[in-house]
Amino acid sequence: MVQIISILVLAYLLGSIPSGLIIGRVFYNTDIREHGSGNLGGTNTFRTLGVKAGLVVTSADILKGTLATALPLILSVHLHPLIPGVLAVLGHTYPIFASFRGGKAVATSGGVILCYAPFLFATLILAFFISLYITKYVSLSSMVAALVAVIYVIISGIISKWDFPLLIVIILLASFVVYRHRANIKRIMSKTEPKIKWL
Ligand code: G3P
Repeated sequence: MVQIISILVLAYLLGSIPSGLIIGRVFYNTDIREHGSGNLGGTNTFRTLGVKAGLVVTSADILKGTLATALPLILSVHLHPLIPGVLAVLGHTYPIFASFRGGKAVATSGGVILCYAPFLFATLILAFFISLYITKYVSLSSMVAALVAVIYVIISGIISKWDFPLLIVIILLASFVVYRHRANIKRIMSKTEPKIKWL
């Protein structure tokens, strides 16, 4: 029991590491929460600090989810890997190290999926970039990927084998991703959401 609680706390703390804040403050003397969308995530890092910083922050945020999900295996503790994965997403979104003002759950959820279901992750990356190419909205494409994840898990359950823990977690994470994008949805509807220019 102590081991399980330790893993859950560790996963939350791992998710709480505010990579966007660290990279912004240490290398650019900038708090990205005071710029762009105000979000502490990869997209706002790309927008505020450029491609190099954006790639580093997005990779670090993905890695947090992947590592947290791998913790039960690494530490040989009998615990479903998606549970610490979800804790890392909560840490990333409500980080104890950054006044509980974190990201929108996309990259870290991606990291959880990368560890647990790599083929699903590859499908979501494809769905994200197809949507991004068509719409030019990162936020909308994140939500499209979340929806595709739900559809994918349901279809693979129907045609092959149900993974109910994955289904529950994917529905929870997808709903959470949409909930965290409330402001983006309003901006998309009022046509004030910024579009990317490089694709
Ligand atoms: O991953 C977050 C992205 O979907 C939206 O970020 O900064 O445009 O609100 P942002």
